[in-house]
Amino acid sequence: MSDWSPESWKAIGAIQQPQYDDLHELNAVISELQRLPPLVTSWEVEALKVQLAEAARGERFLLQGGDCAESFAGCSSETITNKLKILLQMSLVLVHGTKKRVVRVGRFAGQYAKPRSSDTEKRGDQEFPSYRGDLVNSLAFDAESRRPNPQRLLRGYERSALTLNFVRGLIDGGFADLHHPEYWGLDFVKHSPHAAEYEAVVTSIGDSLRFMETLAGIDVGQIDRVDFFSSHEGLHLLYEQAHTRQVPRREGWYNLSTHFPWIGMRTAAPGGAHVEFFRGINNPIGVKVGSGVKRDDLLRMLDLLHPIDEPGRLTLIHRFGVGAIEAGLPDLIETVRASGKTVLWVCDPMHGNTRATENGFKTRSFDDILREVELAFEIHQSTSSKLGGVHFELTGENVTECVGGARGLSEVDLTRAYESQVDPRLNYEQALEMAFLVGRKMHSVEGSRAERLLADGSKGSDFGPIRPSLSGLNHEH
Ligand code: PEP
Ligand code: CO
Repeated sequence: MSDWSPESWKAIGAIQQPQYDDLHELNAVISELQRLPPLVTSWEVEALKVQLAEAARGERFLLQGGDCAESFAGCSSETITNKLKILLQMSLVLVHGTKKRVVRVGRFAGQYAKPRSSDTEKRGDQEFPSYRGDLVNSLAFDAESRRPNPQRLLRGYERSALTLNFVRGLIDGGFADLHHPEYWGLDFVKHSPHAAEYEAVVTSIGDSLRFMETLAGIDVGQIDRVDFFSSHEGLHLLYEQAHTRQVPRREGWYNLSTHFPWIGMRTAAPGGAHVEFFRGINNPIGVKVGSGVKRDDLLRMLDLLHPIDEPGRLTLIHRFGVGAIEAGLPDLIETVRASGKTVLWVCDPMHGNTRATENGFKTRSFDDILREVELAFEIHQSTSSKLGGVHFELTGENVTECVGGARGLSEVDLTRAYESQVDPRLNYEQALEMAFLVGRKMHSVEGSRAERLLADGSKGSDFGPIRPSLSGLNHEH
């Protein structure tokens, strides 16, 4: 790595970066960020890498989710707790359905920068820089709001710290204690079409806990808490670079702005500045891949980002769209197999399924999202690969942004509570329903694989009862 430094990306023109007009102010802000303490620690980062390696081997399942873009205004007690609650509920349902330990990663505490298809936005005869997320500028359409403002980098860092502090405090204080899933209840859960099913999962896990404590005499102190990791798209390279540090008694560099940064689809070219930056950091990293990815580019990316096949290092997050996954995914799986390397495969069923309604809302259909996940399970299984996780844009709020789901939201409903500034998210009920259906699909796909293996080995077919796997909610460190 002698040819890499946290700044070596600068020699390559980075795309998707804001154009600041006051470089003196920008440099002062970057220096201040470099002096401030990190948001996460290298041992948390390494602990996540171990868990992602387990997911790549099929021993765990990754649930990654949150807003498309966090907003500074959304850094509030209620929004953060609601997001934790829905992720906790989904993970409980997934543990129950998949019988696997679940790794929980939020798209939060730093998901403030967005790639845009155009540098400017035109309305009538006015043209201003595009909105690039609260880390860069603000959404209102006027010159001052759209001016990239370096001070926002500090505000984004601070809000990430406030969010992480609150998440850690809630978890340490027992918010995620499995003995008290009622803490995670959202007001509207009782009105959800899935209320009864969810209650049954909670009761079943509670029964198992009590069984272990009273009958088996096992101390569940170690397994009654869950933990969370943070992630965001590592888009704004000056910001990411400012958090990239060396730490005592470890080799190399860590990006300590988040546990798990990923490279977005638009910035994933192997010769680009983002790949150059990411290749030198020790974090586990994700890369979004889709229909445009060529075999040679993927092989080159594996060389650059995953040179020694370190377990847990590389997650490929595929996002094809329901109409393209069958044509595109098998080749990617084959290419990775030919490289001899192991990656964690994750399905993002959101970004390939975005469309505009006639009255101009960006939306996604619940059925398309679900179908893409189902196809992903089937394609991985039929190519002897493994889908090890899912990546959703979701919220714990009762918004109306995606159509479909058990309540049958229609395009007309989108006018009621459409709040996203960027991409449409699954609302609370849709997210919980999705977790049930994903768990069910995974169980049927992996179950049928196990049955075939048994039939091949002619060792009988009695698996015994399937119990919820409590270890899925392990607190590890
Ligand atoms: C996103 O995750 O919000 C995003 C922009 O995705 P992609 O890079 O896959 O388009
Ligand atoms: Co998005």
